[in-house]
Amino acid sequence: MWKIGNVEIDNRVVLAPMAGICNSAYRKIIKEMGCGLIYAEMVSDKAICYDNKKTIDMLYMEDVERPIVQQIFGSDVDSFVEAARYIEKNMKPDIIDINMGCPVPKVALRAQAGSALLKDPNKVKEIVSAVVKAVKCPVTVKIRSGWDANHINAVEIAKVCEEAGVSAICVHGRTRSQGYSGKADWNIIRDVKNNVKIPVIGNGDVTSPEKAKEMLDFTGCDAVMIGRGALGNPWLIRNTVLYLEGKPYKLPTDIDKVNMCIKHLKMLADLKDEKRAVLEIRSHVSWYLKGVKGNSEIKNKIYKMTKLCDILQVLEKFKEDLNEEKCL
Ligand SMILES: Cc1cc2nc3c(=O)[nH]c(=O)nc-3n(C[C@H](O)[C@H](O)[C@H](O)COP(=O)(O)O)c2cc1C
Repeated sequence: MWKIGNVEIDNRVVLAPMAGICNSAYRKIIKEMGCGLIYAEMVSDKAICYDNKKTIDMLYMEDVERPIVQQIFGSDVDSFVEAARYIEKNMKPDIIDINMGCPVPKVALRAQAGSALLKDPNKVKEIVSAVVKAVKCPVTVKIRSGWDANHINAVEIAKVCEEAGVSAICVHGRTRSQGYSGKADWNIIRDVKNNVKIPVIGNGDVTSPEKAKEMLDFTGCDAVMIGRGALGNPWLIRNTVLYLEGKPYKLPTDIDKVNMCIKHLKMLADLKDEKRAVLEIRSHVSWYLKGVKGNSEIKNKIYKMTKLCDILQVLEKFKEDLNEEKCL
C-alpha cells in the first residue's frame, strides 16, 4: 500500500491515461484486473468551461473505478482552475492530474498546452499552484523528460511542481519530439526520483511484468504506469500485480481474448452511441486478436460493419470456431 496525498493505493500498478481509450468501459475492465490506480483520458479545460457536451460526457466515471485520476490539459491558468473546480464538484475524482506530456500538434503547438508547458517553468509554477489551491483533492502532474534532446528538464520541472504543492509526479521518459518512437529513457525517471520527496510514477515501455519490476528496481520509482502494453492485453495489469507480489501468472488463451473483446464491445454499447462504439471497438478488435490464428479475415469483416450486433455475431462465431478447433 502507498499513498498519493490522502489517497490509499493498493499496489504499484497504474493505468496510463490514453485519449480515445481510457473511458469508463475500458477502465472497468482494467479495474477488474486489479489495477492500483487508474487515469482517465485527458479532457480540455476550455471545453469544460464552455460546457461542451462531448467533453462533459467523457467525464463519466463510476465508484468501482476508484481510486481514479481525472487528467486535464490546457494552457491558461483561469480556465485550468475553473475546469478543476468543475470536475472536483461534479465528478469527485480521487485525484486531479495536469497534463504536461501530450505531444500532438493540436495540443502542444496550436494550444501551447500539454508538453509545451515544459518549456516554461514559470507558467508551470503558476498553473500548478493555482490548481492546487483551487481544489481539495490531491493534484498530480504527468510530464515528459523534456521538449527535445537539447532541453531535458524533467528534474527542474518536477522540483517546481513539488514546490507548488503537487502530491505526486509521473514521468514518461521520452521527449516531446520523440513522440512515441525510440526508447523511453529510464535514467530520467531515476533522476527525478532522486531529486523530489513526493512519490514518482515511472512510465514508458513497460510491456511485461518483468519489465515493470526492472523499472521499479532501476529507477527506485514508487509505481509503474502502463499504457500501450495494456491495449488488447488487460491481463498485463493482473499479471504485473501478481508478479510484483512474487506470485505466478498465466497468459490469456485465444478464447480469453475473444471473450474479453465481446465483453468490451457490450460495455462500450452501454456507454456510447452506436457509431462511436463501432469505431472504438474496431481498434480494440485489432489489439485483442493480435497473434490469434485467422484474425485478419475477422478484422476485415468487422472493419466493414456499422452495427454492433453484426460485430458481436462475427466474434461469437469466431469463438465457436476456436472452441471447435480446440476440441479436435
Ligand atoms: C493512444 C494514446 C493516447 C494517449 N493519451 C494520453 C493522454 O490523454 N494523456 C497523457 O498524459 N498521455 C497520453 N498518452 C501517453 C501515455 O499515457 C503514456 O505516457 C505513453 O503511452 C508511454 O507509456 P507506454 O510505453 O506504457 O505506452 C497516450 C498514449 C497513447 C498511445
